[in-house]
Amino acid sequence: MSVGVGQSVITELRMRLFTHLQAQSVAFHGEHASGTLASRASSDVEAVRELFENGIDRIITAAVSLIYVPCVLLVLDWRLGAAALAAMAPVCWTMHAFRRRSLDVYHRRSAAAGAAAGDMSETFAGIRTVRAFGREDINERRFARLNRRHRKENRQAELEMARYVTSSRLVANTAVAGLVLWGGYRVAPGTLELGTYAGFVLYREDVSFAYPGGHEVLRGFALDIPAGQTVALIGPSGGGKSTLAGLLARFHDPTRGRVLLDGVDLRSLATAELRHGVVMVPQEGFLFSGSVAENIAMARPDATPDEIRQAAEATGAHRFISALQDGYRTEVGDRGGRFSSGQRQLIALARVFLVNPSVIVLDEATAVIDIPSERAVLNAMRTVFRKRTALVIAHRLSTVHVADRVLVLADGRVIEDCAPADLGSGRGAADPCEPPRPGVAGPPAC
Ligand SMILES: Nc1ncnc2c1ncn2[C@@H]1O[C@H](COP(=O)(O)OP(=O)(O)O)[C@@H](O)[C@H]1O
Ligand SMILES: [Mg+2]
Repeated sequence: MSVGVGQSVITELRMRLFTHLQAQSVAFHGEHASGTLASRASSDVEAVRELFENGIDRIITAAVSLIYVPCVLLVLDWRLGAAALAAMAPVCWTMHAFRRRSLDVYHRRSAAAGAAAGDMSETFAGIRTVRAFGREDINERRFARLNRRHRKENRQAELEMARYVTSSRLVANTAVAGLVLWGGYRVAPGTLELGTYAGFVLYREDVSFAYPGGHEVLRGFALDIPAGQTVALIGPSGGGKSTLAGLLARFHDPTRGRVLLDGVDLRSLATAELRHGVVMVPQEGFLFSGSVAENIAMARPDATPDEIRQAAEATGAHRFISALQDGYRTEVGDRGGRFSSGQRQLIALARVFLVNPSVIVLDEATAVIDIPSERAVLNAMRTVFRKRTALVIAHRLSTVHVADRVLVLADGRVIEDCAPADLGSGRGAADPCEPPRPGVAGPPAC
C-alpha cells in the first residue's frame, strides 16, 4: 500500500512541478540551467518517494511506541517511567541539532549535484558549438571542478548523518544503561518488583527467525505462555508451528530477540538444565538400537524398571510391550523397524513421562497413532500436564480440547488466541477436524 501511495504522490508531484516550472518567467529559466532543474526535480521527488515507501510506516511505529511505551512504563513503575521520559530529552536535543545542520548540508549537496548535472546537460545540448570552438579541455576542467564539489558536499552530508546516528545511539544507549543500573539498584533492596524490572528491560524483545538462507518465518513474534498452561497450536502447513516448537526446544536460536524460560534466556541455560526443562517430541518417534527399556529410559538411564513400566502404561505402550516375548528387554532392531510407527511413537512419548520436564512440546506427535490410543495418551498427559506447561501442535480437534488455550498460527503470526470452546464458532470456518491442506483450507476462526 505504501508503495502504491508513494507512486501516486510522486506522479502527481512531478506533474505539478512540471506545470509550475513551465509557467516560470523566461528570466527565471535564464537564471537556472535546465539540467539543474531536471536534476533537482528528479532527486527531490526521489526523496519524497523514499519517504512514502519506507518512512511513513516507520514514523507511525515510532509515534505509537513513543506514546504507548511510556504510558505502559508509567503504569508499571512511575519513577522508572518518568526517568525514561526524561532520558528522551537529550535524544530530542541531538535530533534537533541534526535537523538544523542537516538543512544546510543537504541543501548544499543538492545544489552541487544540480550544478554538475546542469553543466553536463548544457555541454551536450551545445555539443556542436563545443566542437566548433574546441572547448573540450576547458569543459572537462570545469566539470571536474563541479564533480569534485559534488563529492565533497556528499561526503559532508554523509559525515553529518554518521555523526548524528552515532551520537544519538550513544546518548540513547547511555540512557538505557543508566536506567538499567538504577533499576538494578532498586531491585536489590526489594523496592521494585523483579517482574516490573524485567518487563522494563525486556520490553519489545520480539523474536524473529529465518532458516539459513531462507525468508523470515517469524518476524517480531511475541508470545507469553504462563507456567502450567496447556496450549494447542493449529494452523495451515508452513505456518511456522514446527519452527516455533524448534525455537522453544532450542533446536534453533532466534535471529533476533530471545526465548525465555522462567525469565531466563534459553541460550544461558546449561544443556542438562535445558533438556530437563523443555522436552520436544517430534512427529516421528525415533528409536535407537538397544532394548525397549533403554529407549524409554534414554534421558534418565537411572530410572528403575518400575518407573519405566509406569511411563509405558501412561502412553498405553505397556500393552504391546508386555505381549512381546522378551517384554521390555526386547531389542528394537534397526530404527525400531519391528514396531509400527504408532507403536514407535508411544514408546517415544513414554520418554516424556519419565523425564517429567517443566515444558512439554509435542509437534504433531500424536498424528501417527490411532484415535483411541491418542485419547489414552492425551488423558494421561492431562494428568501430567496439570502442573506442566505444554505446547501441543495439533492436527485433530480432539487434541485441541485438552488445551486451556488455542492459538492459530498462519504466516508466522498468531491470528487467533482463544479458549478451545470458542474455536470454530465464528464466520463459516473450515472444518477444524480436517487436517489443514496448504492453499485450500484456511485456519479455523475462533
Ligand atoms: N529446515 C528448514 N529450512 C528452511 N526453511 C524451512 C525449514 N523448515 C521449515 N522451513 C520453512 O519455514 C516455514 C514454516 O515451516 P514450519 O515451521 O515447518 O511450518 P508448520 O510446522 O506450521 O507446517 C515454511 O515456509 C517452511 O518452508
Ligand atoms: Mg510442522
